[in-house]
Amino acid sequence: MAVERTLLLVKPDGVQRRLVGTILSRFESKGLKIVGLKMLNVTPELARKHYEEHVEKPFYPLLEEFITASPVVAIAAEGVDAISVARTMMGSTNGREAAPGTIRGDLSQSRQMNLVHGSDSPEAAKRELDIYFSAAELLDYDLNLSVYLA
Ligand code: TYD
Ligand code: MG
Repeated sequence: MAVERTLLLVKPDGVQRRLVGTILSRFESKGLKIVGLKMLNVTPELARKHYEEHVEKPFYPLLEEFITASPVVAIAAEGVDAISVARTMMGSTNGREAAPGTIRGDLSQSRQMNLVHGSDSPEAAKRELDIYFSAAELLDYDLNLSVYLA
């Protein structure tokens, strides 16, 4: 049990389908703490960095075309075992096979347009957070605002 940070993306299909709030809300409602948030266009160069383990795979050209097609929302999320918690919430890669109750299982029917990305290991999380966020964009803050409740 360790407090971890993970890199989550709402992919272009999630933005196009107006599911940013829904997807963010599922992670928030679960109890993950948002410590970084931005919208950006993924460039081909950034896509190759992010998906370096897939660059040589046959599906990569289409994956790059998809992920660079329109903006994504990048989320840095923190929590106990946040990496595996988020992966469990996302469901398996192919939306048609992902279990009901997961984000992909409930909202996607595609293997490629599967709405979300989540880091799959502590090493990947560190590497991917570094790709999408500068140190200054990852915030340390307390969730307890009771001091302001008059
Ligand atoms: P992968 O890392 O295997 O899946 P996940 O996102 O669940 O960690 O693959 C990265 C992305 O590549 C995946 O989300 C969708 C795309 N992809 C395809 O388009 N076709 C494929 O056959 C695979 C395995 C992945
Ligand atoms: Mg992966």
